[in-house]
Amino acid sequence: YTGNGYDVWEKFVRQNAFERDEFYHGEFPKKFGWGTATAAYQIEGAWNVEGKGESTWDHYTHNAPCRLLYNQTGDVACDSYHNFDDDLAIIKELGLSHYRFSLSWSRLFPDGKLTSGPLPDGVRYYNDVINKLIAANVEPMVTLFHWDLPQALQDEFGGFNSSEIIPYYLDYADFCFRTFGGRVKYWFTFNEPYVYCTLGHGYGVAAFAPGHYSPGEGVYYAAHSIIKSHAQAYHIYNNTYRESQKGQIGITLNTNWVEPMTTTDLDHIEASQRSLAFSTGWFAEPIFNSGDYPDVGNRSEYYNITYDRLPKFTEEEKELNKGTSDFFGLNHYTSNLIVPCSYYPEEGPTYDIPWGIRKLLIWIKRTYGDPVIYITENGISEHHSDGLDDDIRVNYYKNYINEVLKAIKEDDVNVKGYTAWSLMDNFEWAEGYSERFGLHWVNFTDPERTRIPKKSASYYRSLAGSGTYQL
Ligand code: NOJ
Repeated sequence: YTGNGYDVWEKFVRQNAFERDEFYHGEFPKKFGWGTATAAYQIEGAWNVEGKGESTWDHYTHNAPCRLLYNQTGDVACDSYHNFDDDLAIIKELGLSHYRFSLSWSRLFPDGKLTSGPLPDGVRYYNDVINKLIAANVEPMVTLFHWDLPQALQDEFGGFNSSEIIPYYLDYADFCFRTFGGRVKYWFTFNEPYVYCTLGHGYGVAAFAPGHYSPGEGVYYAAHSIIKSHAQAYHIYNNTYRESQKGQIGITLNTNWVEPMTTTDLDHIEASQRSLAFSTGWFAEPIFNSGDYPDVGNRSEYYNITYDRLPKFTEEEKELNKGTSDFFGLNHYTSNLIVPCSYYPEEGPTYDIPWGIRKLLIWIKRTYGDPVIYITENGISEHHSDGLDDDIRVNYYKNYINEVLKAIKEDDVNVKGYTAWSLMDNFEWAEGYSERFGLHWVNFTDPERTRIPKKSASYYRSLAGSGTYQL
């Protein structure tokens, strides 16, 4: 944790002690952006049509199905590649102003390199999505990388485990800015690199593609290549496209709030500080603050790693990293209680704690220089649920969004938009179709993949899509 001394942090934690039950009645700013979010591999299907290359998730689900709990794939998913008009219809029905989705790199460049594309059908598909959104008055928010790397780049040199990936990522990003950037005003370079690195390159077995098991090293190399790729993509956009395209570019990071088990025990407070400082700061510190990894105070025990095991940025790279996000894209789902132990912080049970998002927003404001914040994901799943009467989700959104409103009104946090995860049920990675996060229910055995609104869709519409913005 940098920027403020320990005493300031302690005071902050204590000062913001729980206001669990008070509901804040008020109205969101008129210009606040409201939307829903999805990602290519989770919804598109059409995994091998019209020349599309294999992605690491295609490869992983096809070749290592035993690693995944449910032996399922995203081969068809919501079939959004063929059914975008159905997506558009429910987006319009919700009445929202923004839609966040990702591009599939291997749908544009089958082996990830410029020489293999662009595939006309991939370009046509994304042009169609973007044009139809704009015609419906919905602002596209586009993620360049939401985990589905072209498998060929994985095979050739280990994907993000190697810095060889960087020029290919930059070529791809540059192509996307050039091709779609006249119409896309919000770019996200990477989605949740923390999750991608830890589950894909750390505990990859039985977790996430590419299934690389290297908790002590690979995980940090992957993060290193991602931060460098991100920073350079930002500069390409900034130097070449910003003036003519007038958009914004940033990154989306996931963070749980980490609440000290008690606020009377200094060790608990300190454990919470260290956890946030590294888990969020691993990416946020280089990008928003110093250009370098967070200094976790030489606590060699943290996550069982030594600070020395982190790859090093050169001075020039640090300069390049600094200040490379126009906003803080935040994915937030839950909070943890934390107590310290001798080797690494032991995270306690995870809770549906709406006030965690408010504390987290305040923490981000204080730690990373009061950035503009877009909440790019927030939501809750139901396990195997077939119900449309999803009161659990209605309550979740109501209470979490209420805490966001408090952060804006009472704590002066600069939150400018919110995209709920997710527009509809989709392929939840290692969990397959067993976890349903959607505002719309999808029948995955029906060839039409009909989308049916749940109760939460009408709740979200009444709050965010009707023009009242009133809680
Ligand atoms: C974060 C990821 O970005 C998204 O792909 C995932 O489905 C949701 N969280 C829910 O776990």
